[in-house]
Amino acid sequence: MNDLQPDVVSRYMAWAKLRSNARFNLAISGVIDYPLAELPVQIEDLEIGGTGPYGYAPLMERLASKACVPENCVVYTLGASMANYIALSAVLSRGDEVLIEQPTYDPLLTILRQLGAKIRRFERRADHGFRLDLEELERQLTPNTRLVILCNLHNPSSTLTDDATMRRVGELAAKVGARVLVDEVYLETLFDQPRRSAFHLGSNFITTASLTKAYGLSGIRCGWILAQPDLVQRMWQIVDFTYGSPVHPAERLGIIALDNLDRIRSRARSLLETNRALVNAFLSDHPELDCEPSRFGTTVFPRLKAGRVTDFVEMLRDHFETSVVPGEFFEQPQHFRIGFCGATDTVRGGLERLSDALKSFHQKQE
Ligand SMILES: Cc1ncc(COP(=O)(O)O)c(C=O)c1O
Repeated sequence: MNDLQPDVVSRYMAWAKLRSNARFNLAISGVIDYPLAELPVQIEDLEIGGTGPYGYAPLMERLASKACVPENCVVYTLGASMANYIALSAVLSRGDEVLIEQPTYDPLLTILRQLGAKIRRFERRADHGFRLDLEELERQLTPNTRLVILCNLHNPSSTLTDDATMRRVGELAAKVGARVLVDEVYLETLFDQPRRSAFHLGSNFITTASLTKAYGLSGIRCGWILAQPDLVQRMWQIVDFTYGSPVHPAERLGIIALDNLDRIRSRARSLLETNRALVNAFLSDHPELDCEPSRFGTTVFPRLKAGRVTDFVEMLRDHFETSVVPGEFFEQPQHFRIGFCGATDTVRGGLERLSDALKSFHQKQE
């Protein structure tokens, strides 16, 4: 850790890695791991080495065809995390002005600080269901804005931005000569209404995504960036700083996963459908929380109407063996994030405990 730059630390990531675990873990945002044993993989399908210098050709073909783009618009990365880091490093120089949504996924902000960007924010209001407000976005754009950043689906609320709104974001950004980076890692969870990437909405869009969250494949780290070919060149040059030859077994597993995505998708779809019904029943039974019912994604982000969330989350963990993400990590201290993408028994048990904890918390406050 760099003591000279204390603000260039993702407190959220440190918390998520070290402190978020609990018997009933509702702090996760990715579908629980897909069992390797259920993938049709033989040891002969894996190999230690043997790759193209800039992406393993069979994998690059599949990623390009999945996204309906030419291969020279794709950078393969280890997850959306690396995709965001590489993409932002490629398009930003120190002092560049960037407009990023609030609330947002904390590592995006941390990367911007690390890169020395000048950060401006546009608000996604809780009382508007965290929907994108184009007028607010336009108000916050300046002639100096170089990049606009948002997540679709939004993290933490899982709110969807439709194509028409997203296209307008691209047009507004283009007016001041800015690009738009859309983190689409959760867009993959729209199983029944698959969306094309925002990359297709205008030449100033860059998108990042991965197979990690929607499919329970975090360990394979199969991620990608879609960008115009000149930027892709620059991004591969930045990938050069991170490795010479990639993790080839992961590339091979990525191919096997992509070739079997239908079966992986159907397991995730049925898990999320079941769990979404549970979380929606929970929300409608708890008027002490303010939250629209879940329609998309893997998380909801309710507001606790009374009492301090930090106290509530601590009590939930210490006395009810259940974890959620405190809203402070999303700059929304009156909210907390519930992930309903774990095993159904865990989600059910966690929601029951959340109910008991809310009752006990409010009794103590009376
Ligand atoms: C918005 C967003 N982008 C990226 C990531 C990281 O994705 P990956 O696991 O593919 O690195 C996360 C993880 O929580 C996320 O919420």
